[in-house]
Amino acid sequence: MTFTHRHLLGIEYLRPEEIITLLDLADDYVKLNRAAEKHGAALTGLTQINMFFENSTRTQASFELAGKRLGADVMNMAMQASSISKGETLIDTAMTLNAMHPDLLIVRHPHSGAVDLLAQKVNCAVLNAGDGRHEHPTQALLDALTIRRAKGRLHRLNIAICGDIAHSRVARSNIILLGKMENRIRLIGPPTLMPAGINEFGVEVFDDMRHGLKDVDVVMMLRLQRERMDGGFIPSEREYYHRYGLDADKLANAKSDTIVMHPGPMNRGVEIDGTLADDINHSVIQEQVEMGVAVRMAAMDLLARNQRSVREAI
Ligand code: NCD
Repeated sequence: MTFTHRHLLGIEYLRPEEIITLLDLADDYVKLNRAAEKHGAALTGLTQINMFFENSTRTQASFELAGKRLGADVMNMAMQASSISKGETLIDTAMTLNAMHPDLLIVRHPHSGAVDLLAQKVNCAVLNAGDGRHEHPTQALLDALTIRRAKGRLHRLNIAICGDIAHSRVARSNIILLGKMENRIRLIGPPTLMPAGINEFGVEVFDDMRHGLKDVDVVMMLRLQRERMDGGFIPSEREYYHRYGLDADKLANAKSDTIVMHPGPMNRGVEIDGTLADDINHSVIQEQVEMGVAVRMAAMDLLARNQRSVREAI
């Protein structure tokens, strides 16, 4: 099998053939999820713990559903109310949970690198559900699956990622994944929201939506991540929408069959026009949510298989 990892910490550690293996398996899980009987058995008997140190709606729900569909016992830790707020360190919390013998630990944390650190301290498989502005691997994988199903391929596409790139782990994981699959990536947004050293990413950078969107196959919109901003990065939301908000007029520069994506949560009227977000001729935002469950089932299935083969080898 071409997926040999113990953890899923970031796209940067995956080879293109491993990404394909995971997406192919996720395609099978899309079929299962659309059936009336949705139960698989890949995680039967295993314990999955979700540790979300940051708010999350869709990612946590998606991981929970993915685990339950595959037969795992799933526990959601309420991290805001946890002993972290009583001063316990992340590592102590992780070690405590580790002693309960979970098999899969799903972690979201506001600090870049925190999930990697935690993975070094526990015996089970760790899946990164977003760490600071570093990586959000399952989001990039679900985006890749959505693109592959809509476009019939995942290579040699023109893909625009727009908005608050600097604060976005979604953008970072997508740039790495889509680059590995040999797509042409354009980043569009105000210079204040571009990360430092952007020229090393092998991307084209635009600060004008109309130029940047010319002939693209895929448009990915991002939320302004105010929780990670420590000053004024944009003049006003109104001005931002005027220049960088995606509406039908700006989208007319893209290819006629372009797809519009957004990882959610969406701020209608800030980075995207509400009507366009719901326009099923272009928007695949609901498909992204559907693919999220399938991709997470595939990721946990592959990691559980690797765990089993390690155990059997001992
Ligand atoms: C993203 C995240 O948390 O990084 N959301 C998500 O996982 N669906 C993007 C965001 O918060 O804007």
